[in-house]
Amino acid sequence: MYKYDLTSKLLHWISVILIFTMICLGFTASFTDNYSVIWFHKSFGITLLIIMTFRLIWRFTKMHKPDYEVKIALPKLVFAKFIHFMLYASVFTMLLSGWLSSSFAHYPVPFWGLNVSLPVPLIKSVSHFLWDVHTTTIYVLITCIILHMIGTTYHFINKDKILERML
Ligand code: HEM
Ligand code: HEM
Repeated sequence: MYKYDLTSKLLHWISVILIFTMICLGFTASFTDNYSVIWFHKSFGITLLIIMTFRLIWRFTKMHKPDYEVKIALPKLVFAKFIHFMLYASVFTMLLSGWLSSSFAHYPVPFWGLNVSLPVPLIKSVSHFLWDVHTTTIYVLITCIILHMIGTTYHFINKDKILERML
């Protein structure tokens, strides 16, 4: 079997759609300051956090890690794995910095009608620091997504069936 299991594939593509949505909503919110855009950004964000947590647990317990059909040179394999790690790391950094930054400023964190702001003290300096983390990490995440997509496209052009593993 050279393919990921169905659950891993579904989790991959659902999180891809949500991450692209989050990037669009985040930049739109910062340019327009429209509250309903922020409401959706935070609600989708907490939804993504739940899905990503499940995905991470699934990855280390149940995921079927398929063998490669063709031989991949070791440096390329190491680089691809490093980008996979950075994708997980930057997505979780975005999710937690956003949630905690709002919580430490005592701003609401709507989750489809509930307020899931964390019960932490009001500390503006911590909130500002986490805000800087949020607005810096986004560029690390976008860079990793671009490199990941270049890698996948390269394999697609080479017809070596790497993309099919995730389809
Ligand atoms: C993968 C997850 C996330 C991504 C990709 C993301 C992306 C972004 C981006 C691109 C911005 C605009 C940054 C800028 O102005 O330079 C932003 C702003 C923001 N994000 Fe996120 N974010 C994520 C998760 C979250 C979460 C979970 C929360 C809170 C629960 C959150 C709260 C905010 C807030 C309050 C803003 C400011 C909006 C404004 O300027 O009015 N984000 N986010
Ligand atoms: C938000 C964007 C994306 C993120 C965060 C992401 C994340 C990941 C991660 C972490 C893996 C490693 C498997 C795992 O541990 O779960 C992976 C594998 C993969 N992704 Fe993505 N991905 C994104 C977008 C895409 C896109 C747009 C494509 C297709 C053009 C794609 C195609 C693949 C393929 C084919 C694999 C399997 C690679 C292999 O087995 O070596 N991904 N992705």
